Amino acid sequence: MTHTEIRKRFIEFFEKHNHQNIGSANLVAKNDPTLLLVNSGMAPIKPYFTGEEKPPHPRLTNIQKCVRTEDIECVGDPHHHTFFEMFGSWSIGDYGKKMAVELAWELLTSQEGFNLEPDKLYATVFAGDDYIPADTETISHWKSIGIPDEHILKLPASENLWVSGPTGPCGPCTEVLYDRGVKYSCGIECNPNCECGRFYEIWNAGVFMQYNRKSETEFEELPFLSVDTGAGLERFAAVLQSKESNYETDLFSPLITEITSTLNIDSLTTAQTRSVRIVADHLRAAFFLIGDGVVPSNKREGYILRRLIRRAITHQIFLKIKLEDLYERLHQSITNIYGSFYPEIKDQDIIAVLQNEHENFLKTLKKGLGVLEASLATIVGQGKGKAAVFPGEIAFDIEATYGVPLETQKEIAENHGIIIDKESYQAAYKKHQDLSRKGAEGKFGKVQEYANEEIAPLHTATHLMHQALTEVLGSQVKQAGQSLVPERLRFDFTFDRKLDPKEIRKVEKIVNQQIQKGLSVTKVETTFHEAVKQGAIALFRDKYKEVDQVTMYKINNFSKELCGGPHVANTSELGYFKIIKEESVGKGIRRIKATLEKK
Ligand code: ALA
Repeated sequence: MTHTEIRKRFIEFFEKHNHQNIGSANLVAKNDPTLLLVNSGMAPIKPYFTGEEKPPHPRLTNIQKCVRTEDIECVGDPHHHTFFEMFGSWSIGDYGKKMAVELAWELLTSQEGFNLEPDKLYATVFAGDDYIPADTETISHWKSIGIPDEHILKLPASENLWVSGPTGPCGPCTEVLYDRGVKYSCGIECNPNCECGRFYEIWNAGVFMQYNRKSETEFEELPFLSVDTGAGLERFAAVLQSKESNYETDLFSPLITEITSTLNIDSLTTAQTRSVRIVADHLRAAFFLIGDGVVPSNKREGYILRRLIRRAITHQIFLKIKLEDLYERLHQSITNIYGSFYPEIKDQDIIAVLQNEHENFLKTLKKGLGVLEASLATIVGQGKGKAAVFPGEIAFDIEATYGVPLETQKEIAENHGIIIDKESYQAAYKKHQDLSRKGAEGKFGKVQEYANEEIAPLHTATHLMHQALTEVLGSQVKQAGQSLVPERLRFDFTFDRKLDPKEIRKVEKIVNQQIQKGLSVTKVETTFHEAVKQGAIALFRDKYKEVDQVTMYKINNFSKELCGGPHVANTSELGYFKIIKEESVGKGIRRIKATLEKK
């Protein structure tokens, strides 16, 4: 069964049962302080469960683009990936547990559905804990359908209490496992609770949204019960196409073939297989993210995208391939697989964004590899008969500063007969984690750090330009990313067409007028609400909302923007502002590069 057929059967089944297909939302989570990227089908429709918003229909279905990066380290095994598509179906205060169980069973076992053998199916249900009782009702529904007792597993909250985030709608869930047979078993001890892959979770067939989670131990009843189901398309494809791993399904195999064909070898080692899968997975995710308007940056979803691209690039080193020669072909493969479902993926600009990030990163990476080689050279042969040991804190530093991942460093060190000390690496890693606030800047943050005097004029110029762009182009302009190096500023913003030369000149003129006026730049510590009340531009609202005190920079009465700085004291210090380039970097995203010339 091709993925196209699988999609069709799922959606048609729920449409037949009076569900409205709402299509996929954009990958970037909107208005959700608990989330950067959509990580499940229900994420974009949370307000329906709490009653805050009214759904277009009480029964809904779709296939939603999702990204999850919590398990990024597992990508490369048979069934983990970062981007995936989730089948979803919902009853918003309409039918309850009984019908949810019956629908799931009919779709899974009927001929026009997925035609799976009933004997191979297992159901899990919530066993109850101190806060929420066991879901005995769902057990009774599975039993009435004919599932024997020994195929019903009662599991704790860690498995069967589904939460949408640290706060928000949640409830006990019931999942369906499919027994793929002894071929997949890890041994005699293997049982349905085992994670080895034999008993494969194919469907979260019902989260019964009954509670709103206020904190880890506080749950308040929702005004009505809803049903939220979710299933990974890739998992269904693996089962229905009898493939050992999701990477062998028709959703991935063209990408895998494209990559392996450049390797010129007959069979891959386990490590190579993993790298090929990582490249395929991460680039697939990157294509989709860029297609949805995300641009690589050091913040929020831009940073997730950056990490995915960079991690893919470092695996090209293992594989000894050049991804820059592959981007176009991979994009073509992805377009062939997904183009008819997600037209945004066809956008040719996606390749340019990738190439650009690739070039930038490769420069840094090369520097890092040079530093590594030089450091290794100093200890070659020091092992006195055994392998010499390379200090882990240096390895960590090279990773943090230049983005050379530990695994790449390990491989290079091993080529010199050197091992990297794991303990001191982990100690350095932990120290860094403790120091860095909630991952906002991440491991690559250091790459972008410059002295205040070098960068402050560009920060101030960016605020002036941001305001000028809003004045010339309107409120559609929203900052999407920025990067400053001493030579230039780069500013990405939302806008749906190319700027004409007149508009560019106008923006330059407005900025230069403010510079000539010699406006004073002042730093104001205030509250988020006060800043917004005064009309400050506040990006990353959700981040700022969490803190009491925010820093706002005011450029006289011309611009007010929340920002950490640094800035100059007076605009007269800036020199002459000039836009050197204006281009597209993704759907609805423009990029401006500009410089400050000496007076
Ligand atoms: N929202 C549920 C999940 O993601 C269905 O598993």
